[in-house]
Amino acid sequence: MHEERNEIATQDSAPSSAVRNRVGVGLLAASFAFLVGAIVVALFQEGKTLADPGNPEQVARGKAVYAQHCAACHGARLEGQPNWQEKLPSGRMPAPPHDASGHTWHHPDSVLFGITKYSLVPGKYAPPKYESDMPAFGGKLKDEEIWAVLAYIKSSWPNKIREAQREMTRNAARR
Ligand code: HEC
Repeated sequence: MHEERNEIATQDSAPSSAVRNRVGVGLLAASFAFLVGAIVVALFQEGKTLADPGNPEQVARGKAVYAQHCAACHGARLEGQPNWQEKLPSGRMPAPPHDASGHTWHHPDSVLFGITKYSLVPGKYAPPKYESDMPAFGGKLKDEEIWAVLAYIKSSWPNKIREAQREMTRNAARR
């Protein structure tokens, strides 16, 4: 009799400890999933840009877009127009280089994208009433093509400058 009760007791405790184990595993899985999620979100915010100079496909696509749509003014090797820091007889500015010698990298991604898509919109990307020879590409290029050309431009920058511009992009996104 005594033995029998003991047996029942063990049978009783067996399933409940299995349930406890299952709850434990479930909790572990849930916290693991949460951790993975948090890491993914952090990584996404870290590299939050749609123009990635580390993506060879995007850079190659951007290179082709650049050759067709930008090189005529900004130079085949991103070198800009001669004497790009001096005004033209028209009073407008020549096309600046997009390589590290220019000031393209002084702007966050959102601004570079906006200038390419909408041009140097006075009051937004330039002083009020500002006139410029930079065309708006919104009607000609898809957004992905603009991001690709920016990825290509960034790929010409040395690491230090890329990092500085990435920091600017991060700060602009936080605002
Ligand atoms: C018709 C000539 C022309 C073409 C083509 C052209 N640009 Fe420009 N771009 C300019 C000029 C001129 C400026 C300088 C305007 C100013 O400062 O007044 C400029 C300025 C810019 C700037 C601002 C740079 C800075 O440092 O402030 C960006 C970004 C830019 N262009 C991107 C592009 C991209 C990308 C393409 C190709 C998709 C392109 N441009 C094609 C003439 C051109």
